[in-house]
Amino acid sequence: MRTLVTGGAGYIGSHTVLQLIEAGHEVVIADNFSNSRRSVLPRLEELAGQPIPVVEVDLCDVEATDRLVAEGGFDSVIHFAGLKAVGESVEQPIRYYDNNIGSTLSLLKAMDRHGVRRIVFSSSATVYGATPTLPCTEDAPTSATNPYGWTKQMIEQILRDTAVADDSWRIGILRYFNPVGAHPSGLIGEDPAGIPNNLLPYIAQVAVGRRERLAVFGDDYDTPDGTGVRDYIHVDDLAAGHLAALEHLGASDTPVDVWNLGTGQGTSVLELVHSFERACGHEIPYAVAPRRAGDIGSVFAAVDKAHAELGWRATRSVDEGTASTWKWQSQNPTGFPED
Ligand code: NAD
Ligand code: UD1
Repeated sequence: MRTLVTGGAGYIGSHTVLQLIEAGHEVVIADNFSNSRRSVLPRLEELAGQPIPVVEVDLCDVEATDRLVAEGGFDSVIHFAGLKAVGESVEQPIRYYDNNIGSTLSLLKAMDRHGVRRIVFSSSATVYGATPTLPCTEDAPTSATNPYGWTKQMIEQILRDTAVADDSWRIGILRYFNPVGAHPSGLIGEDPAGIPNNLLPYIAQVAVGRRERLAVFGDDYDTPDGTGVRDYIHVDDLAAGHLAALEHLGASDTPVDVWNLGTGQGTSVLELVHSFERACGHEIPYAVAPRRAGDIGSVFAAVDKAHAELGWRATRSVDEGTASTWKWQSQNPTGFPED
């Protein structure tokens, strides 16, 4: 199968590209490097043991995206490309709507025009909103509390409407819980620009000495130790979930479907800190701070649907997530080399 991977230079995309190649797919990466570095590419080629075609393109460019799909000979697309920082989306809503929705529309137009109607889309547990029933099941009502979340919600709706209008589409919506971890080589991993918003990259930067201490956002939630509980899924398990979804779509009669990609297990902030301490062999300084606006106590996935229908489940532990993150961060204290 020949697969276009949009956003394939990014964190989750890069790990998925490697597994696609290992499974015998031909892969083409399309990325505009707005949130990734070109220096990931030689590392990916080294790990894959083969050249990987890359097209530098902004998917909001309708003509360029049309050309890419017209000339690519693709059987399927995995659509990772998008902006993902919640706080930034509140400050720059137009940019987020423009980029995330604009890129998806030009991609879908090109795919439709050229008869490539198989796509896996990166959605998020953020669509379960501010008051989820736990564990989050795929049929739960969805909502959004910020522009980033609205883009996921809206793109899901666009995809469902597309499948209703033309049942030759095969669309898989994957709702990721909290991705963590890195490739076992330590050559690729998560490299956020600026101050990390998410917990594990922040802990990793404290561990490597780039930041003084972690602020634990609240210790008075209704959770076993009072700190927030999330479902941390290893990025290599996530990547495997994409392969399972692609394969499923190839044999499916259902034009559109949705699956959670999570572990089903909750881990608290302090449990993740302690796991990281075991990985790096020293203490992670932290201080309890007020709750972060918009946060909730616990979120974790129902995982039965993905297991029953995709034959997939997460197999890697939280400790493997923190250990591989430490390997990546300690080998690359300042992330990927600058382009
Ligand atoms: P990332 O920022 O590392 O990767 C996204 C890639 O898309 C980047 O390489 C960026 O340069 C590229 N991109 C953005 N806009 C583009 C455009 N208009 N044209 C071409 N390329 C563009 O993010 P990630 O963590 O790998 O996330 C991948 C997807 O998964 C995103 O859609 C994100 O919203 C979603 N997701 C991520 C998380 C998470 O915590 N990492 C959780 C849930 C969902
Ligand atoms: C965030 C996003 C969400 C996205 C998800 C996965 C927000 C408000 N929500 O959610 O839309 O789908 O990532 O990418 O950003 N924490 C600290 N200190 C920190 C950072 C985080 O204590 O410096 C705590 C948080 O309060 C939370 C947990 O760690 O309890 C995880 O936080 P984070 O990694 O930001 O993920 P989410 O809050 O799940």
